[in-house]
Amino acid sequence: MSAGAVPDEQAPQAPAAPHGIGRLRPVDVYEASLDGTPVLLRTHQGHAHPLPAETYLAEHVPGDSSLLTRCTGGTLDVGCGPGRLAAALTRRGVRSLGIDISLRAVALARAAGADALHGSIFDPLPQVGPWSTALLADGNLGIGGEPVTLLARLRTLLTSHGQVLVELDPPGSGAHQLTVRLEHADGAASVWFPWARVGVEAIDEVAVQAGLSVVERWSEAGRWFAALGARPLTAAQPRSRSCSSPLGVAPATTT
Ligand SMILES: C[S@@+](CC[C@H](N)C(=O)[O-])C[C@H]1O[C@@H](n2cnc3c(N)ncnc32)[C@H](O)[C@@H]1O
Repeated sequence: MSAGAVPDEQAPQAPAAPHGIGRLRPVDVYEASLDGTPVLLRTHQGHAHPLPAETYLAEHVPGDSSLLTRCTGGTLDVGCGPGRLAAALTRRGVRSLGIDISLRAVALARAAGADALHGSIFDPLPQVGPWSTALLADGNLGIGGEPVTLLARLRTLLTSHGQVLVELDPPGSGAHQLTVRLEHADGAASVWFPWARVGVEAIDEVAVQAGLSVVERWSEAGRWFAALGARPLTAAQPRSRSCSSPLGVAPATTT
């Protein structure tokens, strides 16, 4: 789930969970990782990556400051997890709200000092926006498996001059739709769910399809980011354009 995770091709292999036990909710396995249980993120192709819960639970991760300084005005931290970034914004005096489908993550975020809401970013939200900034850190552009849909949803929550700050995969990563699940070390696994990963050079096409454009790109502490701003709609600049995938990303090609 992290943009900083090992690319599929280099990921260590792990034994597949026994057949028929992939029935847990992803959020339950994710919450176990927050409580200290080692969890793997496995792609449908069989590659496994340790879920970096220690990053989610950290107070500060190198590279965070470059995101935080760009959060101008009220900021919505989408998939805030235990609230590392939302709490840091609060400490900086920036109005922020984290949102997450995990009750455990929301409780941790509140305990860390963040304002946090339990719910899905795709559900109707309380009238607390519009937001100047939406944050998609730690690979959260993958939420829902359709980056264009997620960005288009965020665009509706932003002011007309609002921005989305996204963390991306390194150059050369491309853009991929994935089917993944979360696994405990003992083999118990969640159901499969859609995810996506987008590389820093692939974000332009995805952004354009969501009615956004890349206004800045940067790298800090080995992490890659972009700021996306709303594009004015004109007859010569339709909101979306066709491409080989309706989601704007190519299906994963790793095996
Ligand atoms: C890769 S983790 C990142 C967590 C967080 N950024 C951090 O560093 O602690 C993805 C987060 O997105 C949350 N999430 C997944 N789907 C979501 C949705 N539809 N709406 C809001 N949050 C969601 C998960 O519960 C999880 O906390």
